[in-house]
Amino acid sequence: MTQTRRAEEYVGHQHPAYALARRPLEVVALERLTDRILHVVLADPAGKPLAGYEPGSHLVVDAGQGRRNAYSLTGDGLNPRSYEISVLRLPDGDGGSVWLHEKLTVGGLLDVEGPRSMFPPVHDQQHSLLVAGGIGVTPVLSHARALKRARRSATILYSYRPGHQAHLEDLLTLAGQEIRLVEATTADDTRAALDALLSEQPFGTHAYACGPPAMLEAYEEAARQAGWPAGRVHLERFVAPDLDPGDPFTVTVASTGQSLEIPSGVSLLDGLLQAGVRVNYLCKQGVCGECRIPVRTAKSLQHRDFVLTAAEREAAADLMACVSRGRDIEVGL
Ligand SMILES: Cc1cc2nc3c(=O)[nH]c(=O)nc-3n(C[C@H](O)[C@H](O)[C@H](O)COP(=O)(O)OP(=O)(O)OC[C@H]3O[C@@H](n4cnc5c(N)ncnc54)[C@H](O)[C@@H]3O)c2cc1C
Ligand code: FES
Repeated sequence: MTQTRRAEEYVGHQHPAYALARRPLEVVALERLTDRILHVVLADPAGKPLAGYEPGSHLVVDAGQGRRNAYSLTGDGLNPRSYEISVLRLPDGDGGSVWLHEKLTVGGLLDVEGPRSMFPPVHDQQHSLLVAGGIGVTPVLSHARALKRARRSATILYSYRPGHQAHLEDLLTLAGQEIRLVEATTADDTRAALDALLSEQPFGTHAYACGPPAMLEAYEEAARQAGWPAGRVHLERFVAPDLDPGDPFTVTVASTGQSLEIPSGVSLLDGLLQAGVRVNYLCKQGVCGECRIPVRTAKSLQHRDFVLTAAEREAAADLMACVSRGRDIEVGL
């Protein structure tokens, strides 16, 4: 929180509705949706307009002690008067989600960047299948609200543990003629609903899912079994599965000629940061795209992220430094 910083310090020369760079927004409301999920409403401190955003976009939020975390916006993105996010407090941790739960107060300022779009809808889709698991409901709600506003049709599957169903009321409000809501409260019911829904969608449907790794695996598997082409199966990950430590390798920094040995268990990102090479990063899990760096040459590359497309991997022009590895890599930094 930056309670003492004046909003005027951040005023740039652009119209405020286009401001995406780091700036303070005021916390105008806080609501506990469940015992572990806090809904945060942010607005411009001077009441100025906020930048619109594509459904499924996220904000990058300062989360204490230099941490910057991504949180999905739950609105439809059109002419927003406020930005709204919902933060799951991770148990037994001292991470950014705990900090946000404990430190945010109504009337305080919070530094944010964005909105950034990494999970947008396909605009010529005939119908949408939206799949949410747990806190993964946040970008799904954004998509659903935008579809409702545009009077487009959607089927939503919301899988949650009873007692932890953030935003269920919001989805129930959207449900009606064009929007069908299906609820599942166990892993077995979720898998059965995924199998049924993926096999009954009309031609031209695009599917979008966000949730825990096990649910996303089930979703991808069910889509494969139902014969969906990969280009119509979209997903966003908040968290990635654990990775093996990988083999050691050598990296050369093109601008300085510096050669670094990256040991097993150390990421290329951490190796570069420890050597004083500046690289942006956020999630350190290969899901946010922030640590993308150019590759000049490489004997081999082992992409382990969830950001690059198959075509981008094939082109071998970039890699995500937080998770990907390889052999004898020269990076264009
Ligand atoms: C594009 C994007 C959008 C996101 N949107 C949301 C959102 O709308 N709401 C929200 O609460 N979070 C969201 N996240 C996750 C969020 O950015 C943080 O990772 C999360 O709040 C944990 O941060 P932390 O600093 O508390 O814990 P960290 O110290 O960063 O992580 C601690 C451990 O918890 C694991 N972890 C991280 N997230 C989860 C999770 N959801 N469930 C279980 N384990 C987890 C990490 O793998 C790590 O091992 C999003 C992430 C991305 C990349
Ligand atoms: S820091 Fe998020 S993909 Fe690397």
